[in-house]
Amino acid sequence: MAIIRGILILLITTILSFDNLGNVEGRFHYHKRQKKGSPVSESPVSESPVSDSPVSDSPVSGSPASGSPAYSPEPEDPSPPSVVPPTVPSDPYPNDPRKSSSDSVFDVTSFGAVGDGTADDTAAFRAAWKAACAVESGVILAPKDYCFKITSTIFSGPCKPGFVFQVDGTLMPPDGPDSWPKADSRMQWLVFYKLDQMTFNGTGTIEGNGQQWWELPCKPHRGPNGSTLPGPCNSPALIRFFMSSNLVVSGLSIKNSPQFHMKFDGCEGVLIDNLSISSPKLSPNTDGIHIENTKEVGIYNSMIGNGDDCISIGPGCANVDIEGVTCGPSHGISIGSLGVHNSQACVSNITVRNAIIKESDNGLRIKTWQGGMGSVTGISFENIQMENVRNCIIIDQYYCMSKACLNQTSAVYVTDIYFKNIKGTYDVRNPPIHFACSDTVACTNITLSEVELLPQEGELVDDPFCWNAYGIQETLTIPPINCLQDGEPQRIVESSQYGC
Ligand SMILES: *[C@@H]1O[C@H](CO)[C@@H](O)[C@H](O)[C@H]1NC(C)=O
Ligand SMILES: *[C@@H]1O[C@H](CO)[C@@H](O)[C@H](O)[C@H]1NC(C)=O
Ligand SMILES: *[C@@H]1O[C@H](CO)[C@@H](O)[C@H](O)[C@H]1NC(C)=O
Ligand SMILES: *[C@@H]1O[C@H](CO)[C@@H](O)[C@H](O)[C@H]1NC(C)=O
Ligand SMILES: *[C@@H]1O[C@H](CO)[C@@H](O)[C@H](O)[C@H]1NC(C)=O
Ligand SMILES: *[C@@H]1O[C@H](CO)[C@@H](O)[C@H](O)[C@H]1NC(C)=O
Repeated sequence: MAIIRGILILLITTILSFDNLGNVEGRFHYHKRQKKGSPVSESPVSESPVSDSPVSDSPVSGSPASGSPAYSPEPEDPSPPSVVPPTVPSDPYPNDPRKSSSDSVFDVTSFGAVGDGTADDTAAFRAAWKAACAVESGVILAPKDYCFKITSTIFSGPCKPGFVFQVDGTLMPPDGPDSWPKADSRMQWLVFYKLDQMTFNGTGTIEGNGQQWWELPCKPHRGPNGSTLPGPCNSPALIRFFMSSNLVVSGLSIKNSPQFHMKFDGCEGVLIDNLSISSPKLSPNTDGIHIENTKEVGIYNSMIGNGDDCISIGPGCANVDIEGVTCGPSHGISIGSLGVHNSQACVSNITVRNAIIKESDNGLRIKTWQGGMGSVTGISFENIQMENVRNCIIIDQYYCMSKACLNQTSAVYVTDIYFKNIKGTYDVRNPPIHFACSDTVACTNITLSEVELLPQEGELVDDPFCWNAYGIQETLTIPPINCLQDGEPQRIVESSQYGC
């Protein structure tokens, strides 16, 4: 049965490859995957970082709240299996009565926010922001038991050090494109810009009200009779940090984003801990956490379920540490896509440890476009449990959103990639291991150690795939893989050529 199916797929793939230009074997498998996946549902990570730069806003002025409400002790909540986060500041006096009279807490209700889920509280938030931002360790508080609605806002710094935006209630944007103010950006909702040492936390919820955005007829297969109508199809990223440093984001529940849930661009020093991110499996482009041009990042102890990448790492990222994250349903943890439009992309020193990936379209993925430059190096995936995942381990240097990507000779160089203790089950619709490296720029120094993947149901797919991939297996891989080549490729990649 499996053999017959294999032959059928091979036949279909062969037929398909005739109406396309590339007949490189690396692309064979690519087409096979492409045929079955849904390319249009992928993340548009290609947008230029400056194209939608926030412009500075003019916050309305307001006066500080006088009698700020007490902090209530946080309720016990089941959280994902804990690893020790490095530097989450803990509160030594959670019930300290001095806090309730602290004049550094700026409760939005004292600035006129109604919080009934209907009134527009934007002006109150801007006023509270301005007041809190101006004092040392200022806290802007959206208290619990309220639901605040605000429109797209850029919260700009610099603020005094120790600034905290604490949401214990619910904070949400207008519901859907029809109620989105015409003058507001459709690219983003909450934007934090030019901040240093800011904390965004609380026990509350950021509710994205994404449903009507996902159903726009320009979204994949949401048009009449399952078609996809032409765009533009901009939908706002829910939370965006731009050009900021030393950020902490923790405790919050972030849901139903119209597009990416959280996006960091041009940041340095980001600590994410104990977040819950959730959107339905079929919500388009709802990446959980996306980072690009961002360095020194820790993502810990978080649950992410959504309709696109769980965590996506774009160009210009280095020193990213991910631990204790559960992804699923999702499209897995992804490095890329990199090198679009012949661009240079440099990604280095990324570690992912003690993670669970379940019910996902991909597991651990590195994807690059043909024609790019730069490198992906020093990537380590360790102790990852897979549950019913398609493409558990995949390097794809033929990433392409349309069907007509031409052969190109340059590519983002992929090297020093370590997979250790990757165990669990895969969805047999795709081979669990897939290395499709560039014809001209081989992937090198891939290490597999204790990789054991079994079919979730059905027969073992004994078809791991490698094209131009070099590396070693420290232990016997399951399913067995014979295609990884020993040693070094003949054509050596000059590091100067890649310029990272
Ligand atoms: C793409 O590359 C393959 C193999 O290297 C070659 O056979 C094919 O002709 C190329 N196509 C184009 C359009 O250059
Ligand atoms: C939010 O962060 C601040 C600053 O680190 C901290 O004092 C406060 O206790 C945190 N609040 C919650 C609810 O985690
Ligand atoms: C995680 O966040 C939840 C919700 O904000 C909170 O109740 C819980 O105490 C936090 N857990 C840890 C370990 O900080
Ligand atoms: C949708 O499909 C139905 C039945 O196939 C057809 O009658 C109808 O014209 C189609 N509508 C559009 C907008 O294509
Ligand atoms: C790699 O990243 C980690 C943090 O993720 C950092 O502690 C370490 O110093 C980095 N290594 C190098 C060589 O930069
Ligand atoms: C291969 O990659 C590993 C990390 O996976 C690194 O420790 C080692 O130095 C690399 N080997 C070479 C020859 O670069």
